[in-house]
Amino acid sequence: MRAEAPVHFDEARGCWDVFLYEDVQQVLSDHKRFSSARQQQGQQESLISMDPPKHARYRTLVSQAFTLKAVQNLAPRIAELANELIDDVLAKGEMDLVDAISFPLPVIVIAEMLGVPKEDRDKFKYWSDLMVQGVDISAGEDYQALMLEKQKAMQELYQYFGAIIHERRIQRQNDMISALLDAKVEDQHLELPELLSFCFLLLVAGNETTTNLITNSIYTFLEDRTRYEQLVNDRSLLEGAIEEVLRFRSPVQSMSRIAVMDLELRGQQIKQGDELIAWIGSANLDEQKFPEADTFIINRSPNQHLAFGHGVHFCLGAPLARLEAQIALHAILTKLPNLRRVEGHQPKVIASPIVYGFKDLQVQ
Ligand code: HEM
Repeated sequence: MRAEAPVHFDEARGCWDVFLYEDVQQVLSDHKRFSSARQQQGQQESLISMDPPKHARYRTLVSQAFTLKAVQNLAPRIAELANELIDDVLAKGEMDLVDAISFPLPVIVIAEMLGVPKEDRDKFKYWSDLMVQGVDISAGEDYQALMLEKQKAMQELYQYFGAIIHERRIQRQNDMISALLDAKVEDQHLELPELLSFCFLLLVAGNETTTNLITNSIYTFLEDRTRYEQLVNDRSLLEGAIEEVLRFRSPVQSMSRIAVMDLELRGQQIKQGDELIAWIGSANLDEQKFPEADTFIINRSPNQHLAFGHGVHFCLGAPLARLEAQIALHAILTKLPNLRRVEGHQPKVIASPIVYGFKDLQVQ
């Protein structure tokens, strides 16, 4: 598609698909022409679906709680959790990596950051899985039923966080919800709907994506065993290898925007109000930007992938996702130097146009 129809209107879905690096970067970041205000009716506006200048105020407020320092301070706790999770399965011989490590780690970290009990992690999994789920109409799946289930889950989630926010208003704790309550710009604090939509966003944006980054990394490192061995023997390659996984198997494949005005993109006439899907996964494999784009190069440099987006909406959680992946993968390489895939087991790919990852990955 990148060569033949780099900007293409899909009649069935009624939206434009944008495939080239240069165009995806532009669609993601040129908010004067491409708006992020794409929430469906009845849905709460959130950071990710706002345009400047409103977006800047909100982002400044939540950034006061989600600081780089707050993230870096988590490193010892993340390492402790990663090691505990690995030790729990070490004796078993065989495990599903997703179940054992990639899924629980980000969920527990977010739960602890927000200050909610980790016992509720099954609820979290249900909510975050559901929110990114798509529908395969050709396979007879019911779009309306899924939308209703999503709405119901959203209500449950808002009630859940509403109760916690109420408790923190009365008594602050050392957690992110308390920090969000204290954050202010020009003496203005976040309103309750803003707080709720941010908690919701962290859950949806932060869990499944990081889970998939960890699983996609192990899948990719084991795809060619010499990669895994190379990393076991030289951990200094890990940081670059994670960046290459972000490019090569991007956990977030696509983001959408709405055209603010009639405009032209690569010769195509796009009308005001049309929806555009910026295919991050395709941009990151664009040969015009990345030499040998289809090859995983463990120490690729430069590596200006778009896995975390571009411009004002650049992923707020990128430092946390990178830190979690770095710590978890470091612990896996150290404790499981002979790790390999279970022969004959084919991991199931997650059915979603937005996220890319595996439902399971059997390793031993
Ligand atoms: C935004 C990807 C992890 C929180 C984004 C965007 C992308 C992205 C592509 C841009 C959306 C847009 O332009 O419309 C990823 C990937 C992750 C990851 C690939 C893991 C590998 C996280 C984590 C958190 C997080 C761990 C928080 C705990 C957010 C938030 C935004 C965002 C709050 C909205 C920022 C804004 O609109 O200003 N992420 N993300 N993400 N991400 Fe992430």
